[in-house]
Amino acid sequence: MTQSSNTPPSQIITGKARLAGVLGWPVGHSRSPALHNYWLRRYGVDGAYVPLPATPENFVAAVMGLKAAGFRGANVTIPHKEAAYRLADELDHSARRAGAVNTLVFRDDGKILGLSTDGDGFLASLEACGMLPQPQSRAILLGAGGAARSVAAALQDRGIQVAITNRTQERAMALAKALPGVEVLPWNEWEQKLGMFSLLVNTTSLGMEGGPDPLFCPDLGQAAPELVVADIVYVPQITPLLASAGQHGLRTVGGLGMLLHQARLGFREWFGIDPQVDDATQEYVLNSF
Ligand SMILES: NC(=O)c1ccc[n+]([C@@H]2O[C@H](COP(=O)([O-])OP(=O)(O)OC[C@H]3O[C@@H](n4cnc5c(N)ncnc54)[C@H](OP(=O)(O)O)[C@@H]3O)[C@@H](O)[C@H]2O)c1
Repeated sequence: MTQSSNTPPSQIITGKARLAGVLGWPVGHSRSPALHNYWLRRYGVDGAYVPLPATPENFVAAVMGLKAAGFRGANVTIPHKEAAYRLADELDHSARRAGAVNTLVFRDDGKILGLSTDGDGFLASLEACGMLPQPQSRAILLGAGGAARSVAAALQDRGIQVAITNRTQERAMALAKALPGVEVLPWNEWEQKLGMFSLLVNTTSLGMEGGPDPLFCPDLGQAAPELVVADIVYVPQITPLLASAGQHGLRTVGGLGMLLHQARLGFREWFGIDPQVDDATQEYVLNSF
């Protein structure tokens, strides 16, 4: 990892350190340890945040072990988000709507609280760029996976009308059933209907480096001039979709902001401070890639 000029002072880890981490399988790709330890150093918190590789078979034992060892909680990433949803004693509104949990909080009363922060993190990233659509406006989401459901639920909760389109139509129908009011468009027709929308969000893994189609670049010719194009893929930072949107003169939002904003709530719950997402944070995490 490159040390950037804004690297804060060294970390404090005493015998009273607060502990958290990220459970995933694999987990080596996660940027969360870099981000949370950056914030811990920056705010001088006595604590640590570690990667926690746990196989699906070991997930429940790993969570119970962390709890027994005094951890404050953990982030949960692929493939454990649904298992974490089932395991939590209590769920917040976003987790119930998302049908998944990405943040576990071990409360003082022994209960495990499950949160889903992806959708709100996405909205916060749009808001930070002044691109949050108005209530009643229309958004179209590409994809119907876990991230799509979180983003669709958060947009709906803000009063935005959501349409989705997905390669596998049955999965899109299942998402629409879980979130009444979501419209489903056929995967081979959405490009022609793009003019009806003020926000386009790619929530698939298309365009991701090392993913199924890193060059994914749909036709944006029918876009209205005010369309905002967002991609939740963040490697690369400027996906071919975002590059094409820029060439069409459209405003764009990359996925890194969502990654940073979704982390704030967990950090606040475990370490007691609401961390800032600013240029220094973004630069630090980018240098950790
Ligand atoms: N920025 C952030 O903070 C953040 C947070 C969460 C996720 N993400 C990113 O979001 C992406 C999706 O994550 P997820 O958890 O939702 O994954 P997921 O549940 O596995 O869903 C993957 C989605 O991609 C679609 N897809 C995959 N390969 C495709 C192909 N060849 N052609 C067309 N569609 C294809 C799938 O369609 P089918 O249903 O047809 O398979 C599905 O809609 C990942 O790249 C992940 O890194 C970013």
